Amino acid sequence: MNQYVRLGVNIDHVATLRNARGGQDPHLLQMALAVEEAGADGITIHLREDRRHIRDEDVWLLRSHLRTPMNLEMAATDEMVRIALKAMPKACCIVPEHRREVTTEGGLNVVGQLSELGMQVAKLSDAGIEVSLFIDADRDQIQAAHDIGAPVIELHTGEYANASTPQTVDHELERLEEASAFAQSLGLVVNAGHGLTKFNVAPIAAIEGMNELNIGHSLIARSLMVGLPTAVREFREIMDRACQ
Ligand code: PXP
Repeated sequence: MNQYVRLGVNIDHVATLRNARGGQDPHLLQMALAVEEAGADGITIHLREDRRHIRDEDVWLLRSHLRTPMNLEMAATDEMVRIALKAMPKACCIVPEHRREVTTEGGLNVVGQLSELGMQVAKLSDAGIEVSLFIDADRDQIQAAHDIGAPVIELHTGEYANASTPQTVDHELERLEEASAFAQSLGLVVNAGHGLTKFNVAPIAAIEGMNELNIGHSLIARSLMVGLPTAVREFREIMDRACQ
């Protein structure tokens, strides 16, 4: 197999912890630099409409100090597109957003909003930002992502992560493998993420042609036990071993 899968670390929950007391501890930039130093290939942040973790000033600070590419997750709203065009991250991942959700609960409905999404994708792409659409492992959604000109998709691995029997895990993994192969046959770059942990990440990293995994909650949670650099290295090692 022998492929290198990029590790994007989502640091939203470092900001969640910081915001709990309103100060600067833990310092988001310092943590991001430690994550990079430990071997992450990129930093992912989700600027939510309600600013519950990442805030606008975090975007600017990280943008000017990160050494690895920044991946900005955001809803496809005019406000977010305006911010992205000002911040100019390397990549934008467009996600669905609902105010009351605890986290991103499902993939984007690209099929149902072709023209609106197509316009936002074009604005970001024309500026040189690599746009990815966060979607479920569904052929119609993948085809629609391709049709509106997104060069990258991120497959939502939440259903795989939540599968509770060996049969459903296998079924969800197969769906992701098939979706990835179909997307690649259209020329799309395939990333994946959501709910990935030390215990379920290996088969996803091993999907042929996988480009990047974005991992947040479980890596940040693990860092409470072993420290952030070690947590990053653990995920890196598991992914590398799965791809040998
Ligand atoms: N990818 C996307 C598009 C997401 O919205 C999230 C959650 O913010 C992740 C990856 C990371 O998910 P988790 O925090 O469950 O690892």
